[in-house]
Formats: sequence, C-alpha cells, structure tokens
Amino acid sequence: MIKIENLSRDYKLGDGTDFFALKDISIEIPKGIFIGVLGPSGSGKSTFMHLIGGMDRPSSGKILIDSVDISTLSANELSYFRRNNIGFVFQSFYLIESLSVIENVMTPAIFSGMSTRDARQKAKEILSELNITDKLDLKVSNLSGGQKQRVAIARALMNDPDIILADEPTGNLDSKNGEEVMSILKNLVKKGKTVIMVTHNKDLISESPFIISFMDGKIVDINKNKIDIPQNPNNSKHKNRSINFVELFKLAKNNIFQNKLRNLLTAIGISIGVAMLIILLSFGFGLKANLEKGLSSIISTNTITVSPSKNSGFSFSPVTAVSKGKLKILDLSTIKTLSKIKNVKEDWGQNAFFGNMSFKHTKGAIYIESLSPHQYINSSIYSSIAVGKIPQGDKGGILLQRTVAKEFSKNINSLVGKNIKISIGSGASVLSPTSLYTKAQTFSIKIVGITSGHLSYISYNQSILWSKLLENTKNPKFSNIEVLSNSTSNVKTIASIISSKGYGTQTLESVISELNTPFLIVDSILGIIGGISLVVSAIMILVIMLMEILERTREVGILKAIGAKRSDIRNLFILETIIIGSIGGIFGLVIGIIVIDILNYFINIFIKSSGGAATTLFSSPLYFYLLVFLFGIFIAVIAGLYPSSKASKMNPIDALRYE
Ligand SMILES: Nc1ncnc2c1ncn2[C@@H]1O[C@H](COP(=O)(O)OP(=O)(O)OP(=O)(O)O)[C@@H](O)[C@H]1O
Ligand SMILES: [Mg+2]
Repeated sequence: MIKIENLSRDYKLGDGTDFFALKDISIEIPKGIFIGVLGPSGSGKSTFMHLIGGMDRPSSGKILIDSVDISTLSANELSYFRRNNIGFVFQSFYLIESLSVIENVMTPAIFSGMSTRDARQKAKEILSELNITDKLDLKVSNLSGGQKQRVAIARALMNDPDIILADEPTGNLDSKNGEEVMSILKNLVKKGKTVIMVTHNKDLISESPFIISFMDGKIVDINKNKIDIPQNPNNSKHKNRSINFVELFKLAKNNIFQNKLRNLLTAIGISIGVAMLIILLSFGFGLKANLEKGLSSIISTNTITVSPSKNSGFSFSPVTAVSKGKLKILDLSTIKTLSKIKNVKEDWGQNAFFGNMSFKHTKGAIYIESLSPHQYINSSIYSSIAVGKIPQGDKGGILLQRTVAKEFSKNINSLVGKNIKISIGSGASVLSPTSLYTKAQTFSIKIVGITSGHLSYISYNQSILWSKLLENTKNPKFSNIEVLSNSTSNVKTIASIISSKGYGTQTLESVISELNTPFLIVDSILGIIGGISLVVSAIMILVIMLMEILERTREVGILKAIGAKRSDIRNLFILETIIIGSIGGIFGLVIGIIVIDILNYFINIFIKSSGGAATTLFSSPLYFYLLVFLFGIFIAVIAGLYPSSKASKMNPIDALRYE
C-alpha cells in the first residue's frame, strides 16, 4: 500500500513567493496493479512521481510505502530505498550515453554490490525478455527511441523493484513502439509489480483499474475501475549492500576509457606539471650536491679547521684577520694539546704568506699556503698538478699557481727548476693575525711544479722555517691548525671539544649547513615555479572537467535515480581522478627523467669541452620522485573533485534536469 497524507511540494520563486507544484494531497494507492496518472502539463504529475520514488523531498506531509515514511529517511537510506524498491522509466530515457546497452542495464546491480559477471548475466536475461538480444555491446546512442526505452525498462527492472514509476514513457515514441512499451509494462503487473504511469494519452490507460487525475497541484479525480487487488503483491525489500572496490575500479576504468580525449588531455596536463617540477627541483638539488662535492674535495670530511677566534666566521681561505673578540694563539704547543683529545689522529699547523715575487725583471704579488705534512691529505692538489711535482721536505720548493706563472713566462714549463725570489714585509701578518713579523725577509725558492688550482703551495717544513725566520722565534704561530679525526663520525664531538676551549672550528658539515639556508631559498623558488606549472595544469584539468559537467551532472542524476549513494558516486569520481593522475604522474616522471638525462648529457659535453670534470648537474634523491608523483595525483584529485562533488550534492532530480 502506498499511503499519502497531506503531501505538499512548493518551490520558492525568484520574487520570494511560494509556488505549490503539489498542494495538500492525500490518497491511498493499492499495490500490485496498473495505476494511470493523467493531467494537463504543469499540473504536478512528475513532481508526484519523484516524491513517491524518493528522488525529491516533500515540503510537508507523509509518504508511507508499506508503512515506512520515506520522507523521514536519511540521504543514504533513501538511496537504498530507491535502489531496492523503485524502478524509474523517463520520457527522455536518461541512459548513460558513454556506456553500452548492457552496461547501462548492469549499472544498478553493480551499485548494489553485485559482481560484473552476475550483473551481465542478469542484464542479458532481462534484455532478452524485452526482445533485445543483439546490440548488447553497442553504445546506446546508436539505438532507436523504442529500443532506448526498452533498455531503460530493463535497467529499471535490474534490482527487481516492486514499484515501477514511468513518467510519460511513450511520450517520445511512435504508436507502434508506444504499444510495445505499454504491453511490457502491463506484463510487469502480471508478475506482481506495481506500475504507476503518467501519460497525456487517455486511451493508453483506459483499461487501467486505478486512474488519478491531477489539476493545478491537486488530485481532482480518482477513477477506480473494478479493482481486483492481488492478495500478495511484492513488498519492500531492505538490502543495504554497497558496491565493492573491485567493481568500483572496473567502473572507473571503464569511464576513463569512454572519455579518452578528455582524460588524455587531463593526464597530459598533469604530466607537464610533474615533469616541470622534477626538472626545476633537480636543478636545485643537483646544484647543491655539486657544491657539496666540490667542498668535500677542498675540505676533507675527517678534518676540523681550528682558527684563533670563535667569531672568525665562515670563509673558504684561512683568512681570519676580520675576527673579533679575543684571539687564541695557535702554535706548536697548541698542536700538542689538541693532539691529546680523544679520537684525534693527527694535527698540524697551517700558514699562509702574502708577498712579492720576482723572477728576472718581472715582479708580482703572490699568495702561498702551506701543505699538510701528510701527503695523502694533499690528494686533491696532486690531481691539479699540470707540470712537475708536489713540494716535500725541508727545502721542497714551491708549487706555483698557473695564472701567476703565466705572468712570468709564456712557456710555463720552462719555469720548472728555476729559482724565484719571494719578499715578505715586516709588521703584523695579514694572514696569521697573531703573528708579528719582526723584519722583512726575502727567500729564494725553486719552482718544482705548476698547478691549475687557485693557490701556490710550499711544503709544511718550509712554511715552519719561514715563520721562524719572519717571527724571529723557535715557536712560530699558525693561522690555522688542521685536526684529523680517526673517523668521520667523531668529527662533530672533537669539534665541540675544541670549540669549548675558545677556538673557532670549521668542518665540512658546518660549511654545508651554512649553505642550507641559501639553498632552501633557491629550492623554494624553483619549487614555486614548478608548483605554478602544476597549478596551471590543474586549472587546465578543471576547465576540461567543467566542460564535461553537463554530461557528468546528468550521469550523477541517473546514478542517483538508480540508487547509487552519494559516497559511491564521490568514490567513483575520486578513483577516476586517481587513475588519471597516476597515469599523468608516471608520464611526467618518465618525461622529467628523460629531459634531465638529455640536459645532463649536453651540459657534460659543454663542461668537458671547456676542460672541466664530468658532473651530473640535474639530480634528485629517489624519495623526491615519489613525492612529486603523489603531488601530481593530489592535484588531479583536487581538480576532479570540485565538479563531481558539486554534482553529487545535487538533488537527483535537479541533477537529471541540469542544463
Ligand atoms: N525546480 C522547480 N522550480 C520551480 N518550479 C518548478 C520546479 N519544478 C517544477 N516546477 C513547477 O511545478 C509545476 C509542476 O511541475 P511538474 O513537472 O510536476 O508538471 P507535470 O504535470 O509533470 O507537467 P508535464 O506534463 O508538462 O510534464 C510546474 O508548474 C513547474 O513549472
Ligand atoms: Mg512531467
């Protein structure tokens, strides 16, 4: 029994007044029979049907179906109600155009948790009962009106509902097809179903035992022809199963294939964004990695450079003259003290000299650093030697910087073995802030090699000799002391012990950490640029999605009419965008990596041609690729979510009519 009590449905009009599409109607409709609904256009017939079918909500009143008041059900409960008990047949069919005949029929069962296989089987049976045995895998747009309506009826029967609501099902059909649809509907009643049919054609329903006539939102006539009410009409069912993930995935996959062009464009948009992000950020990462690599060739990972003051700050050369605060003396006894710290393997002094060099009649300024006493520490200097050898021992000679050597001779090779003179003045040393040079000295020294590096070098012993003479003491001072740890893991502890004694310390790690801030800025800027390109591609996706919103909104309306829950629809759309985002993300990764490789290849050719060592300028850590990939999917979901969530929140009947 369908029992309606004081049912009203009013619409707020633009001018603020209320318009009653249905006004205070009450009626009891028996089940298991054919019910005809008549009335002029605009009299409220469709409104009435939508309310009975749970597609719309009343403004007031009750709709009791088998004693359940459906006006009090929650959105999800109403979805279950529609799915289990109602089959809709519309004048304009409302099939999903992108799906095939059989897929359209299967959809309600799939959303009720049936497997594709079972649903296909059942759809086939129903379709063959309605005389559709071929064309099952054809797109519905290829069908005639009569065929479309039969497919729509088959879909309405898919979940075996007890009530079929047909709103002018023959309105768009010629008389022959109309009669066929009528006979199908009448047959359903024989099987125990309740069919309520709206029509403008009185003749079609003249034999109907129960005819309701509407006028201006009110029931004006109920014509009961010799009603023969069946004893056991089908009754409401309460099955609350939901679509499972595998089926949802199949559906999503199917939808993606149905809209190839749109989804391809979306995936391309995502892949461009992802590739841009990878290329730009790899540049930032690579730049930093290269700098770190460069630094670690200058600064050993196991050494700590000790300077006379904590405030001497960061510098690449041991120039500490700008230091503030109290200066500690670095001399031979300091070396001894520091060598006693736990885990210190070795330590030695380092000095730098600034003076004038003369060779034959040419003069020029020269900056000289001392080498370490341990040759293996100087390995990076070995590799920079262009001609000759590294200075060693007490009278090891000088390894001259190539650019300086060029000032003295065009043929720098001929300089090796020659003696030059180096003069260093008296007064406070510029380079060793605690040293006082008591008198000017001129040293004669042999050139033993030429280096392509940026400094000239003398041996450790040679530098101590010079310092002793310049300072006129047996205990000369150093500009720095280099402390070598027995392992990299102890560097930090040793540095903090030395620092606690009031010395300045510098390790590779501390240098790199000082570089982190500027690099964070560079990375952020590159990331923002990459992010913008991803946002642009997201907007592109949004536009594509919005272009499709009409089709999608209809689809949402149809899915809701057949009983899909809002959450099912939302999940379906999210899954679709995740799949598209993943495809785009993978493409983006591949494109990004290929572009990076190509760029690295050409940059290397350029670097090698200008005499540099091979480098990988663009490079990223592995986790970063995963992050960018996930970010791509995230953007796809955000862009895809807006139109679909907008559609899924709509009242099903508004979604169906959306234009
Ligand atoms: N969303 C809406 N906003 C405002 N008015 C509406 C809305 N939907 C329907 N109406 C109005 O409610 C009235 C009843 O509409 P309904 O669709 O139920 O008529 P109908 O009897 O089915 O007509 P037809 O035979 O043309 O299909 C009409 O005057 C219609 O304009
Ligand atoms: Mg209507």
